[in-house]
Amino acid sequence: AAAAYSTKDGFMYCENERIQDIIVKENIDWCFYLYSQSQLTRNYQAYQQALEGLPSIIGYAIKANNNYKILEHFANLGSGAVLVSGNELKMALKAKFDPTRCVFNGNGKLQEELNLAAEHGVLVNIDSEFDLDHIIEAGRVRKVRAMLRINPDVDPQVHPYVATGNKNSKFGIRNEKLRNFLDKIKSHPNEVELVGVHCHLGSTITKVNIFNDAALLMVEYIDAIRKEGFNLQFLNIGGGLGIDYYHAGAVLPTPTDLINTVRDLVKENGLTLIIEPGRSLVANTSVFASQVVGVKTNGNKNFVVVNGSMSELIRPSLYGAYQHIELITPPPADAKVEVFDVVGPVCESADFLGKDRELPTPVEGSWLVVHDAGAYCMAMASTYNLRMRPAEYWVKEDGSTAKIRHAETLDDHYRYFENL
Ligand code: LLP
Repeated sequence: AAAAYSTKDGFMYCENERIQDIIVKENIDWCFYLYSQSQLTRNYQAYQQALEGLPSIIGYAIKANNNYKILEHFANLGSGAVLVSGNELKMALKAKFDPTRCVFNGNGKLQEELNLAAEHGVLVNIDSEFDLDHIIEAGRVRKVRAMLRINPDVDPQVHPYVATGNKNSKFGIRNEKLRNFLDKIKSHPNEVELVGVHCHLGSTITKVNIFNDAALLMVEYIDAIRKEGFNLQFLNIGGGLGIDYYHAGAVLPTPTDLINTVRDLVKENGLTLIIEPGRSLVANTSVFASQVVGVKTNGNKNFVVVNGSMSELIRPSLYGAYQHIELITPPPADAKVEVFDVVGPVCESADFLGKDRELPTPVEGSWLVVHDAGAYCMAMASTYNLRMRPAEYWVKEDGSTAKIRHAETLDDHYRYFENL
């Protein structure tokens, strides 16, 4: 498959555009995110192709990246959406996702959020006993199509912060309580229709056989629940497919590999498959670009100090995540290759974008990028140190470049303190 970002003669390109040219043309003087619209399409199509011949819904997990243009693009491609807050639901509606192909997830959904979901016919996951009570209440607005989020206790073998389907996790319901849920749902036929089961194991998963482990378990639940007279249609296996953050030539499972682990089970049981990918749809569509402020050495450590930081991209600081870093212009012929920490200006030692990276010593004012910045990067950006959130651009499918989000300004911030 074509890659969105490539380097030729030392210059990095997004599709056919030199990133350095984009910086000049758009007058960019602050760190920024850049996306490839074509790569968004290619990633979506990879799932579409993987699902061919299988009744299915692709639900893009909006939490990974909520840029309006990106949402609109996925909605145009026919994607559904996976939502975790009332605001995500409102934005999904604004971007024209079909609400009946949207799923509302969460362990703390609020009554007014559930009412809104009910009103629009969104599929809702039942996460706990109190959640079911609130869903029944919302069902008085309009009958809710609901799924049971099962906690299958399958180990996804990922960082503990992004594992969700293990038995002590705060998400989902456990087997021993199933009886209570079914009885309660049966006694509210006008408010709730149970249409499926859901599980989500975790994120950054690179061993897809565990999706099969989980699906086998889920099919047992489906059998048991169907025997109780419920007409189940959906098996929702969540999101979680990992991507190649290391850029070291590893071969990782594709959406087709993932879907093939559950395809037969879905068919044999007459089900519609729902999947909830976030990262694997958006991560590799973007780079986060920062300008070099200077280079320094302390003790045994060399540092490249850039104008981007943990405020704009926190995954390395928060999870110790690796995201590949490269310069976007050729270094001077005599540039020494050394091992650097790439750090930002934020007043925290945890403020780094990359540790121990072998790089040609960059010149002041040149730019470098952090790869795979499309998922959980801008979406998790903050204004820590009063750094205003950066702009986003994309290279469109027609080859032109456009801004798809304004940079926040200090005036935006001052507004929070007006007329108090
Ligand atoms: N469905 C549910 C119920 C989820 O909780 C998640 C992500 C997804 C789908 C999408 O998972 P994905 O395909 O993106 O792995 N901030 C962390 C990731 C948190 C993921 C939370 N749940 C990170 O930056 O790695």
